[in-house]
Order: sequence, then C-alpha cells, then structure tokens
Amino acid sequence: MSEATYILGVSAFYHDSAACLVADGEIIAAAQEERFTRAKHDHNFPVNAARYCLREAGIDARDLTFVGFYDKPLLKFDRLLETYLDYAPFGFRSFLKSMPLWIKEKLWMPDLIRTEMGKANGESDERAAKKAGKKFEWKLLFGDHHESHAASAFYPSPFEEAAILTIDGVGEWATSSMGIGRGHDITLLKELRFPDSLGLLYSAFTYYTGFKVNSGEYKVMGLAPYGEPKYVSLIKDKLAEVRDDGSIRMNHEFFSYSQGLRMTNTAFDRIFGARPRRPESNITQREMDLARSIQVITEEVMLKMVQYVHRETGMKKLCMAGGVALNCVANGRILREGPFQDIWIQPAAGDAGGAIGVALAIWHRYLGKERRSAESAGTWVSNAGPHRNGLLPYEDGMKGSYLGPRDSVDEIENFLRAKNLPYKKYSREELPGVVAELLASEKIIGLHQGRMEFGPRALGGRSIIGDARSPAMQSVMNLKIKYRESFRPFAPSVMREYVADWFELDNDSPYMLLVADVQARHRRAMTEEQEKLFGIEKLNVARSEIPAVTHVDYSARIQTVRRETNPLYWEILEAFHRRTGCPLIVNTSFNVRGEPIVCSPEDSYRCFMRTEMDYLVLENCVLDKKEQPAFTEKKDWRKEFRLD
Ligand SMILES: [Fe+2]
Repeated sequence: MSEATYILGVSAFYHDSAACLVADGEIIAAAQEERFTRAKHDHNFPVNAARYCLREAGIDARDLTFVGFYDKPLLKFDRLLETYLDYAPFGFRSFLKSMPLWIKEKLWMPDLIRTEMGKANGESDERAAKKAGKKFEWKLLFGDHHESHAASAFYPSPFEEAAILTIDGVGEWATSSMGIGRGHDITLLKELRFPDSLGLLYSAFTYYTGFKVNSGEYKVMGLAPYGEPKYVSLIKDKLAEVRDDGSIRMNHEFFSYSQGLRMTNTAFDRIFGARPRRPESNITQREMDLARSIQVITEEVMLKMVQYVHRETGMKKLCMAGGVALNCVANGRILREGPFQDIWIQPAAGDAGGAIGVALAIWHRYLGKERRSAESAGTWVSNAGPHRNGLLPYEDGMKGSYLGPRDSVDEIENFLRAKNLPYKKYSREELPGVVAELLASEKIIGLHQGRMEFGPRALGGRSIIGDARSPAMQSVMNLKIKYRESFRPFAPSVMREYVADWFELDNDSPYMLLVADVQARHRRAMTEEQEKLFGIEKLNVARSEIPAVTHVDYSARIQTVRRETNPLYWEILEAFHRRTGCPLIVNTSFNVRGEPIVCSPEDSYRCFMRTEMDYLVLENCVLDKKEQPAFTEKKDWRKEFRLD
C-alpha cells in the first residue's frame, strides 16, 4: 500500500452519480456511474465508478482514509419535509412517492454507503458486503451541497484566489451561493434559498416546452436562437422578480415543484395560454419564443449575479459550478461583458462534480492541506497567441477532464482478436494523418482514445467526429448516427492556436463551456428567401464556411484543444488543418440519443455497428465499416434507451 492519503468523493441518490479519487490533493480518477451501467443519469450508489477509481490507483477500499459524500441527507430531508408540510395536502401524492424511499434509504446513509463500498471492493453478496463495510476504517464525512459545488469550482481552478459562484436547481436549501477562494481556503458569504432558484425557473420552462427536466435544459438553450424574447416582461411581471443583485423572487402561485411531480401548474398554463407541449410533439414558434425568453432572463440574472459577486468580493477572477454554469451562452457573455478578467468553470458543473468537490474539500478544508495553484506555481503552458486582456492560459487541476478509464493498445487488440473483427493497426505517427484523410473525404468517425471524459461533454476521448465544412454533415450526423432530428448544430473542436481566426473568442475553452460567434469573414449571408425559412430548415442553410457547427444566430459552442492536454486529438486537428486549411472539426458525443456516452471498446464497437458511422478508431486500430461482419442483435436497441 502506498503512503498517500486517499480520499474517495461520492455523489449519488439524486442525479448523475459519480465517484472521484484524490491522492494527496491530486485528482487521480473520476467517472460517472451511468457510463458503466449504461443507464443514463444513473442515480444509484456509484459502485462501478468507485471500483474503477480504486483500480486506477491500484488500491483497495481499505486503503482509503476518507470517504466523502457530496451533500447532507438530513438537511435535504428537512427541506423536503418542510416544503411538503407547507403545501399539504397538494403535495401529498409526491410526498407518498418520495418519502418512504428517503426514510428507508437516505437516512441510513452511513450504513448504506459502507455496504455499497463493500460491493465496490468486490463483494457481490449483500451480507458479505455489509460485513466488509463495517470493517472499513476510513472516516465518512458529509459535505454541504453548495460547498461541494464551490470546492469543485475553486480547488481545481488555475487561480490562486478568485470569487466563487455556484448556481443550480436546489441542493439542501441553497439554490445559489457566492464566496471567495484563497489558497486552500473557501469562504461562502451568501446564498439564495429554495424555492427561489434560477435553476428551477429554467427547469420549469424546460418542462413547459416539452423537454426532460435535468437533461433537456441544453435543448432549450439550443432552441432559443430561433425565437423572439416575447415573454420576457410577462415572466418578470408574473413569475420572477429580478433584482439588481441577481437575486430572484419567484411567485410560487405558478409553480408546483415544491409540492408536485410537475414543474408548472394550471395557473402557469393560464397566463401562457396553453398546456405544456407534449414531449416529442412538434416544436412550434411558441416554444422557440418561450426558450428565447427564459434564456434572455437567465443571461440577465447571471450577469447581474456576477456583477454583484464582483462588487462584494473585489476579486479579479471568477470560478463557477452548479448545473446552471453549463449554460455556455450565458458563460460566453460573462466572459465578454462581465467585470471579471478571467473565468474558470468546472466541466462537471452538475452534481457529478460534487464528488470532486467534496474530496478536495476534505483535503484542503478539513485537513487544512496547502494548495498549489498553477498560477502560484508558475506552471504556465505555452502561450498559443495573443490573448484578450493580455492573459496567459494556465493548467488547471482537471487534467483536461480526461479522468476516466483508458484501454491500452494491447487490450484493444485482444478485444478485436477475440471477436475476430477486421482492423488495421497504424503507428502513432501515422495515425493523425490517416484520420485527417478520412475526415477530409467526409467520413464520419467514432474516436475512442485516451482516458474517458468526466462530465457531460465528450472532448475527443469518446467522440464522433466529422468535417465541419460539409453542408450535409449536420443532418447526416443527426439522422444517421444520433437518430434524432435536431435543431441544434454540433460543436466544433478547434486548435487553440487558431480559435481567434475562426471565432470571436481568444481564450481557452477546453470544456466546451463557452459560446461565441463565428468570425464575420467566415460567414455567408443568407438570401431573403432563406431568412424566411422556419426552424431546422434554416439550420440546413450553409450560413458559414463551417455550417455543421454554426447555429442560426452564427454562434458556436467551442472546444479549444491544446497539444499538451490531448496530444493525439490535437495532432488529428493539425493534420486536418495541413490537409484542408481548416483547423477545426465537428465533435459530438459518442452515443446515440438517450444512451450514456460510450466507455469501453465493446460499447464503442456496438454503437459504431448500430449506426451509420464509416470508421471506428480504437487507439491505433482503425476499423472500416465495410469490412465488418454482419451485426445482429436480438432486441431492437432503439427501444433500449429512453429518449432524453
Ligand atoms: Fe447541485
């Protein structure tokens, strides 16, 4: 056993369970449970993710010194109970549905966590796992929900000191919090409390426009550019008062998330003149206008919050986390218009990231261990070009978010040989050129290389890639690969060196969390007739030299790639740039709609064969679809995944 102090952070039982292992303050591994169980947003205890983390470090659950849980179940219970009692009897159905589970499982968390850790350590039998769990000598600590988010925002950031802002739906009581991080210390100064919540307000509109709460928020954001902000004053007058400091006061007459299983109620329907859109039914101009309106308000609130945090803390830099920090359109505006010189956003901003937060909080806050930020250590990475505000980019503690499992070339070859699958192996030097050539001939490629990403985005480790210049790419990828009709364009991965040549951004955006416009010189004007097109038809008009990644308002959700962080991915981009003059490609997550992102080579091969991808790259091995044996499955996989 090694001498290091190992801390396992766990987030579970609500949404997106995850585990993270920290050794002497360094993040060694982190993964979401859904990737292993193949159940999207899996909320069960992350037995598989924890097992993976231990394996990655070559340790056993007995070698841990601490296990940290990302929130306080008793506080959450208190909030649920109080809210239900306040609204009784309206919330009774929902109360009956959720309370027995809480009473049975969540209040007995310490025992439950010990038993589950017994399973993570290899005990498959419940009784044996329980027995093993009792013997573990590690200490179990519970973090505070927003403190976990705050810690995940500040500790891995490159900053020595910074303001912290967390915004999400709801944790225990807080829905947003602000504070200061300095060295190894975090002080939270203020919070907004349930039920006043920007995250829940956004989710109410996600629900009302017919998308799934806690995962469809991205779609609302993607739909917004098609709409007009028609409902902004109605929302502000009736639903949510927006104050100068970014706090909001919600009118609870119109929401039922406190007491029911729906987000909005009949009073809400009445003021907007209709019932919520049925999921999967046609999207109309009305949903687009609603999406635009809530997006406009969210951006306004976030900008006001950020200004307030700036005034209150006097800091020059800002770190963010919490589900709302995934609103990359708002983040782009905060960077451009906000008062902070620089911002850093935790890539696993949602609850999965709480596992990282609580583990680092135990190391730095509970144990009082020093923190060496990249800024203070002077570990700058190479400066890729002139930067806005003269800022230099620096390393953060997330390792590019490549914190998941990796398969060696040997393991991949063993897998391919065992299955008798034809492939061609290239040297590491040849590979980027081979992939670039395939991309340039408009082939769609599944790319499985390096460690799997932690957080909701695929960043070139488990990605589907294609040529962004192709006018057909957007619809081909959506219809033949992802099996969805989408109003959203794909995101570009661009060499960091060239981001400013193509987009109105000259910062690092390694986690695809910033949106900026395509540079005017790469845009193409639409004809009057094209301007009149509706919805997705407009998206199908080539509005730029890179239509597959350009939204109808010319915006793009950008991932910048550095050689230091993901060498192979950068080299593929570089080879493609040399071949075509274009330093960017399409990057979408390696999965089909409703499926968690692929994890193992088996997952990747299955997804490759189920869809119309042309090539699969498994590390150095390249598989051509045309050469693969017929792929048959007993049941229709399309029924396997619930639509998201
Ligand atoms: Fe949260």
